[in-house]
Amino acid sequence: MKRTTSAAELLLPVSRNRGRSMHEQVEQALRSAIQTGRLKAGFALPSTRALAEDLGMSRGVVVLAYEQLLAEGYLTATRGSATRVASIRQAVSAAAAPIDAETTPTYDFRPSSPDLTTFPRRAWLSSLRRVLASSPNAIFAYPDPAGALRTREALSGYLNRTRGTLAQPGRIVMCNGFAQGLRLVCAVLRERGVKTVAVEDPGHAGQRADINSMGLGTHAVRVDERGIDVARLTALKADAVLLTPAHQFPTGVVLSPDRRKALLDWASRHRVWVLEDDYDAEFRYDRGPVGALQGLAEDRVIYLGSASKTLAPGLRLGWIVSPAELVDRLALAKLHADHGSPTVDQLAFADFIERGELDRHLRKARHVYRRRRDAAVEALRRHLPSLKISGVAAGLHLMLTLPPGLGEAPLEEAASLDSLRIYGLRAHRKRPGGGALLLGYGSLTEARIEAGISLLAAIIRKGPSSSRRSVPTRSTVWDPIERSLKERIAASRPRGRTYLRGN
Ligand SMILES: Cc1ncc(COP(=O)(O)O)c(C=O)c1O
Repeated sequence: MKRTTSAAELLLPVSRNRGRSMHEQVEQALRSAIQTGRLKAGFALPSTRALAEDLGMSRGVVVLAYEQLLAEGYLTATRGSATRVASIRQAVSAAAAPIDAETTPTYDFRPSSPDLTTFPRRAWLSSLRRVLASSPNAIFAYPDPAGALRTREALSGYLNRTRGTLAQPGRIVMCNGFAQGLRLVCAVLRERGVKTVAVEDPGHAGQRADINSMGLGTHAVRVDERGIDVARLTALKADAVLLTPAHQFPTGVVLSPDRRKALLDWASRHRVWVLEDDYDAEFRYDRGPVGALQGLAEDRVIYLGSASKTLAPGLRLGWIVSPAELVDRLALAKLHADHGSPTVDQLAFADFIERGELDRHLRKARHVYRRRRDAAVEALRRHLPSLKISGVAAGLHLMLTLPPGLGEAPLEEAASLDSLRIYGLRAHRKRPGGGALLLGYGSLTEARIEAGISLLAAIIRKGPSSSRRSVPTRSTVWDPIERSLKERIAASRPRGRTYLRGN
């Protein structure tokens, strides 16, 4: 394999006059050379010392850039040998264009993303090994659509202990993330005559769309600093309500004790189903999280959980803790959807819980995310002291209220020109309201959080809205994969016909 020792051969466009730090420039130049396939997998990069000398900068600058690209998986390094371009990226660039075709920004404040670099690979691998070494061949048969019994047992123990649920293995249906769980629940509720689901406003835009796509209507109910407005909710004719009581998405507030009680009283009086999305309750930093509603009304509450925040969204591990009345119907819906979730992964998850690995991982993750949240709050206080942060100390993102006159879309556009990706709240609002940003800190180091927020402050000071009046409004679809797929479909559609509605 060819080894280069010259910066000139790498064609890295770095300059002291670009207004961005040198390490960011080196990092971005290398990242895009790898993304575009100009630097191929296995290519040996110059040593940090050689590259720094060539570029006339200190070695520390190049070390920082290499470290970041190693963490992101663009580079690999083994002790005593050169740092090389990783092969994962080659596979991506050699195949058809990647689904998320957008280039990786230097700072991505995507809300709700856990840090994928801290996934407990070793412990997960040993759970997988143990399962494959010790399980009978039956694990390779079509699964029980409700999920592996051992997993449902381990999970019910975990949830009852940490979330205050009243879960029983026989009342759990395993599914592919919360996303599938919600669709299964909608299918079953629709069969049973449910027509409308009340949702939080602001609330998760994708979930609202999923409910509608399952043939159910939605009623958006205002959220204030005490959670969903239960007085308004109870005045509606909804047959079910979907909410995030432990940590509201996206505002970060907690449903107040009086509203929890009023909600459950109303639901049991009127036989309304309560769909509880407990998506990131494990991450509360200032005290223990409030317990799940399910523990107070196991026959009214359909509890939905997921390993997407605690471990990784790519596992697609989710679960429904169901009232007795619905559990078999949910298992049947799961059977009809896909014949059940993969058994081996579920058993690895069970082993992971049983050996205390999930608790161990969460203890570490909580510590890391708490420090990142503190870093974000501190950086915001320092650089943008007039902007209000809402919500409790929890989760993987915070919400920042923008002052009147500062639009979300122009700010997103201006930030993207500086390789900073931020996310406006508007996609998650049903009714119009003031501007706000969702700043996810889960996958950024403390140094990057500080640098990204300082860059954001500089952009706000410059005044993105006045200097760029004519910027096109970026799509409100904030999931880059969804946006990219929709753009591809739109680009390939024959002229004069419309197959997809907008967002
Ligand atoms: C509010 C909310 N609930 C649940 C989830 C988990 O979804 P899934 O398990 O499908 O990854 C997410 C993920 O971003 C979320 O934002």
